[in-house]
Amino acid sequence: MSSIALNGVAKSWGDSTALHAVDLQIQSGSFCVLLGPSGCGKSTTLRIIAGLETASAGQVLIDGRDVTDLPPAQRGIAMVFQNYALFPHLSVADNIGFGLSVRKVPAAESARRLREAAELLGLSALLDRKPGQLSGGQQQRVALGRALVAQAKVCLMDEPLSNLDAQLRQDMRRELRELQQKLGLTVVYVTHDQTEAMSMADQVVLLHQGRVEQAGTPRTLYAQPATTFAARFIGTPPMNLVALEADGCIAGSEAASGVRAAMLGVRPEAITLDAQGIPAVVRSVEYLGADLVLRCAVGRETLLVRAAGQHQAAPGDAVGLRWSPDEAHGFDAAGRRTETAH
Ligand SMILES: Nc1ncnc2c1ncn2[C@@H]1O[C@H](COP(=O)(O)OP(=O)(O)OP(=O)(O)O)[C@@H](O)[C@H]1O
Ligand SMILES: [Mg+2]
Repeated sequence: MSSIALNGVAKSWGDSTALHAVDLQIQSGSFCVLLGPSGCGKSTTLRIIAGLETASAGQVLIDGRDVTDLPPAQRGIAMVFQNYALFPHLSVADNIGFGLSVRKVPAAESARRLREAAELLGLSALLDRKPGQLSGGQQQRVALGRALVAQAKVCLMDEPLSNLDAQLRQDMRRELRELQQKLGLTVVYVTHDQTEAMSMADQVVLLHQGRVEQAGTPRTLYAQPATTFAARFIGTPPMNLVALEADGCIAGSEAASGVRAAMLGVRPEAITLDAQGIPAVVRSVEYLGADLVLRCAVGRETLLVRAAGQHQAAPGDAVGLRWSPDEAHGFDAAGRRTETAH
């Protein structure tokens, strides 16, 4: 058991407020991703869970125990940061075992934990190397190894893959997720990359200006964005958000959108091209191999449409657009999802 709860956690420095009363429940053994744009408070939240930063208000509970006033070392957590913080002059083995020697774990026990962690992480053959002789991904695994031998059940990671190239990032995402599941770790993982969040998380916590915008499974955030901010932040290309007339037609047109709200949200991949659909004119075309993204004008609005890559289209083409009523999301003027949209 190693659940985490934040109750009304706030953080201010002078008169600048980084977090406003954040409430959060993180289940034991789950992978929770803190997601959001730069400056939204992700690292601050993580550092407060770690005890590296003191909350201005609220409580942090780990396993139901109030740790708000405990120092980091007494919280039973391990941390992996963006720059790994490996010691360049120490071997891989000494880097992994560093915390154990500091904590005076008996030698035989240290050696056993080190062997097991190295095996699990595929580092057994590299134990004598120095960090400078490792690839970025291997260095990342050493940093993880340090967290594993500490036998912490909670692992906090702040953008741990951001130094890696795209291919390695993808491999490491998968490895990290598998490892987390195998070991039953509770992971809190910070990223500003929505693809990373969607592909790894059990729970995504989307932060915006120091508040929780929406928390839920990746599928919930994708299928039922609570706000226009969440709608735009998740999915590529992002959800179309278009202004509606009072009668539900797309602004400047006679095309019924399927919702009665201030704004319609519809994902580019939810729109199909259909000659019988809403009349539109193609403005531009972006070829992405598997997909073709069309920018289509309807009335005063523009919608992105994701079609199959082999589809042929050119600027100026007249097309028809169609989407099913369940794919039409309504938002009010303040950008909140309207539940009685249809
Ligand atoms: N020590 C500090 N003193 C004053 N303000 C701070 C301090 N640390 C962070 N902040 C402010 O708090 C806000 C949240 O910062 P935080 O580091 O949590 O953002 P973040 O979501 O991790 O962003 P990024 O993706 O850029 O790392 C920012 O406006 C930042 O300027
Ligand atoms: Mg940060």
